[in-house]
Amino acid sequence: MNSKRKKLTVPAFREMKTTGNRICVLTAYDFPTARLFDSAGVDAILVGDSMAMVIQGHETTLPVTLDEMIYHGRMVVRGCRSALIIVDLPFPTFHLGVHKAIELAGRVLKETHCQAVKLEGGIEQQAVIAGLVSAGIPVMAHVGLRPQNVHAMGGYRIQRDADLLLADARAAEEAGAFAVVLECIPSDIASTISGKLSIPTIGIGAGAGCDGQVLVGHDLLGLTAGYVPSFVKRYANLSEIITNAVGKWCEDVRSGHWPDEGHSFQ
Ligand code: KIV
Repeated sequence: MNSKRKKLTVPAFREMKTTGNRICVLTAYDFPTARLFDSAGVDAILVGDSMAMVIQGHETTLPVTLDEMIYHGRMVVRGCRSALIIVDLPFPTFHLGVHKAIELAGRVLKETHCQAVKLEGGIEQQAVIAGLVSAGIPVMAHVGLRPQNVHAMGGYRIQRDADLLLADARAAEEAGAFAVVLECIPSDIASTISGKLSIPTIGIGAGAGCDGQVLVGHDLLGLTAGYVPSFVKRYANLSEIITNAVGKWCEDVRSGHWPDEGHSFQ
């Protein structure tokens, strides 16, 4: 527990690259989970658009709306004292021009009180990242596998074009992004990119050479139903714990053992 930690700022997050402290980021989408992750000591919480799949049960991240991201972002902000909070810009909010992106990302900052937004893209989003940054909106970029491009890519695939990946990450850095997520990239390429950038790289399925790591919190806790990517390590099996607890409660209700006298008013 880290109840005395100060709120992590965007510059302090970026600085962690130079201090060599590896950065821990998890996704969360609600108040109780954010509160637990924050007190466990994560550096940042990402309200990811993975919410579409993890919480809403969709097949891809595409259906989640800006209003839904804001609604969940507000819950997460209320649960955090120390962690930096980043909210994903959902598809297609940042493909509508720089002004529209500033308007919509501005709504995210104003209405959730988060500190930064994340968007998928490098080279082709350079102008949008620069526009957001010049408006005072800190941006985390996301290159490599970009789940919002699933249909264009024909599925979720490991990204191996080292030159393109480096060019994307560099474009994000030059545009003023304070960090960049590297998703599903071979470890050696991710390490090389991390060595060439001055901003932190946050890997997911990108090996140990990144400056930090991000995972979907529900995957780490064993709460995700169905397919779990091979790069995920389950640190707990909460699905089993919850199913057992609820099953026991149902048994007690049905057998008349619940509620007992200690949990009833006399
Ligand atoms: O939406 C998300 O959860 C993400 C992470 C996987 C980086 O973008």
